[in-house]
Amino acid sequence: MMPVARAAFDVDEVRAAFPILSRTVRGRPLVYLDNAATTQKPASVIASIVQYYTELNANVHRGVHELSERATDAYEAAREGVKAFFNAADHHEIVFTRNATEGINLVAHAFARPRLKPGDEVLISAMEHHSNIVPWQLACAATGAKLVVAPITDEGELDLDAFDRLIGRRTMLAAVTHMSNALGTITPAEDIVRIAHAKGVPVLLDGSQAAYHMRVDVQAIGADFYVATGHKLYGPTGIGVLYGRSELLEEMDPFLGGGDMIASVTFERSTWNELPYKFEAGTPHIAGAIGLHAALNFIESIGLDRIADHERMLLEYGTALLEGIPGVRIIGSARRKGSILSFVMDGIHPHDIGTIVDREGVAIRTGHHCAQPVMERFGVPATARASLAMYNTTAELDALGAALGHVREVFG
Ligand SMILES: Cc1ncc(COP(=O)(O)O)c(C=O)c1O
Repeated sequence: MMPVARAAFDVDEVRAAFPILSRTVRGRPLVYLDNAATTQKPASVIASIVQYYTELNANVHRGVHELSERATDAYEAAREGVKAFFNAADHHEIVFTRNATEGINLVAHAFARPRLKPGDEVLISAMEHHSNIVPWQLACAATGAKLVVAPITDEGELDLDAFDRLIGRRTMLAAVTHMSNALGTITPAEDIVRIAHAKGVPVLLDGSQAAYHMRVDVQAIGADFYVATGHKLYGPTGIGVLYGRSELLEEMDPFLGGGDMIASVTFERSTWNELPYKFEAGTPHIAGAIGLHAALNFIESIGLDRIADHERMLLEYGTALLEGIPGVRIIGSARRKGSILSFVMDGIHPHDIGTIVDREGVAIRTGHHCAQPVMERFGVPATARASLAMYNTTAELDALGAALGHVREVFG
């Protein structure tokens, strides 16, 4: 059979879909390389939110009137869109949250806390975002359980043998990132799940970074829980996704109590609504879900495989470019890596790097990236981070390179 050629990826066409990319910053064209913090929004996402508030605005699930029904349909269609995007088996397994952080806290409260006993363990990795550390610390502190941390290698890869060894009789849950925001490492999600499941341990994967760079199939991975956050998926802020396997979500008590999550309420006792509403207390972020749906449709219209190819090319280009600048050291050189370039420059604080390149319209992030233990692991207080998305170009990486040249000049 003839191989099917992928349609060419036209980055200019992609860029034209994002209104903000045509603005200037400090008198220069915006070079936005802070995508791991949040991505920009295509016009279709912005339009979907405007359209919702202009034509459909009503509360969901409760009304019998036309607008409420239509808003409910749009909100539930968004759930179907998320289900398809992550290939979940059932839309009941998709819970809308505020962000990835809330998804992890939901699992920590509603799944882990009631099950953790003194001496039990929660296993994470040494490259987690604070969002996948602190909820477990709180859960451990409340229950007498222990947080165990699987080490990472000098390249920034998860030490899978150590991960395997650290899963013991007392391990109640493993919670690991699918892609590190500080290093770019893509972790071997299928292996993590296979190893943990062989010992009867459920797995939560933090897909905040992975989900907008690569196709994620929660059934193929076998994850028990998977979290993602809308604003990194080219969607709005304030909307996130928790995928949970039905059996586990069914067993769990609610996280937050209030309207919409109940079947019945008396002063003596309440009963819970069916999945996923049991976990969606109060009026949800309807516009956010609709905007996220538009964002997922936009991603699919470009194609995750083509996005991944483009970003791989950018990562290779950017890596070579940074390696060619004297005194620059890249932190994180995993074999499987997403389009994140974390780096330090000899004798120059990352904040100074960020401030100087900003004067040239180049937006990068500097600091610990909400991953202080990663900084400690690599013996640096902070890094500068250029993180790339589907609309970035090699010319923008050249602009970063030139700006870093100026940083070098300023610091002699
Ligand atoms: C790996 C990772 N996990 C979790 C989060 C938290 O995402 P949010 O703040 O949207 O909940 C982030 C955000 O930077 C992240 O990069």
